[in-house]
Amino acid sequence: MRHLLSTNQLDGPQAIALLDKAAEMSKLNSESSRKFPTLQGKTVVTLFFENSTRTRISFELAAKRLSADVINFSAETSAVSKGENLKDTAQTLEALGADALIMRHPSSGAAYSLANSDWTTAKIINAGDGTNQHPTQALLDALTMREGFEIGSGQGLKGKKVLIVGDIVHSRVARSNLDLLPKLGAEVEFAGPGSFAPGSKYSDLDEALEAAPDAIMMLRVQKERMNQPLIPSDKEYAKLWGLTEPRVKRIPNSLILHPGPMNRGLEISSYAAESEKSLVLQQVKNGLAVRMAVLANIFGGDDAAI
Ligand code: CP
Repeated sequence: MRHLLSTNQLDGPQAIALLDKAAEMSKLNSESSRKFPTLQGKTVVTLFFENSTRTRISFELAAKRLSADVINFSAETSAVSKGENLKDTAQTLEALGADALIMRHPSSGAAYSLANSDWTTAKIINAGDGTNQHPTQALLDALTMREGFEIGSGQGLKGKKVLIVGDIVHSRVARSNLDLLPKLGAEVEFAGPGSFAPGSKYSDLDEALEAAPDAIMMLRVQKERMNQPLIPSDKEYAKLWGLTEPRVKRIPNSLILHPGPMNRGLEISSYAAESEKSLVLQQVKNGLAVRMAVLANIFGGDDAAI
């Protein structure tokens, strides 16, 4: 794979191969934090036009574990704040010898435009573009669920029911998961209020939970992407759509995921976030392994050794 722009570009076997490589990385990471020479001599830039904690740091750490030189670019502290555009930014980084640009951008399609431009020859990894795609998030979600269900390597998520709840319309995580999980054999269902999940057949989360999902993924209410309030109040939203303690107790066997950052007390209670079935921190941990696997694949091909 030359670039990773979307989970749309992966077929089931390719996705499973990436999950298997990431599982291998995860095992090695848990044994020690040693470095691998895979990206020696390569320069990787994390090019972030939107804030991030998990994605940026785990990509930086992943590239460093693979021995790349890593440069962190933040729009707020760069010449973008003086009006420099994406083309000039990309050409500047090309002139400095960037081999890969890991980009987060508020515009949907920004990573695709960059990858298909003649502004740079660097490999492009989409670290989230607007409301469109966040492919490495979906891969780490899939890996986390596969581990949670104790499904071995070489396998997908056959027959597992995954319920994704909340602010679907603004969620690149939901879109990337919808493109990926069915290819791994999982059934995906969305639930949320009409303004967030148009066409959802449920009037509240209690009704959705009656289908006994194997995994439930709570999504952040993304107020920063709303021009006007789309929910009557936070209190009402938490009551109808929040993963509260009583709801967690009604689905004792369901895995609980959240991509983070979490709005505790809104879409997810602290009880749910910290419950025995919560995999929130395992998702973060798997983010490192998945990003190492993606970088190794992009530079070394499908059979890349780490
Ligand atoms: N899940 C996720 O993308 O988190 P960050 O915004 O912290 O990177």
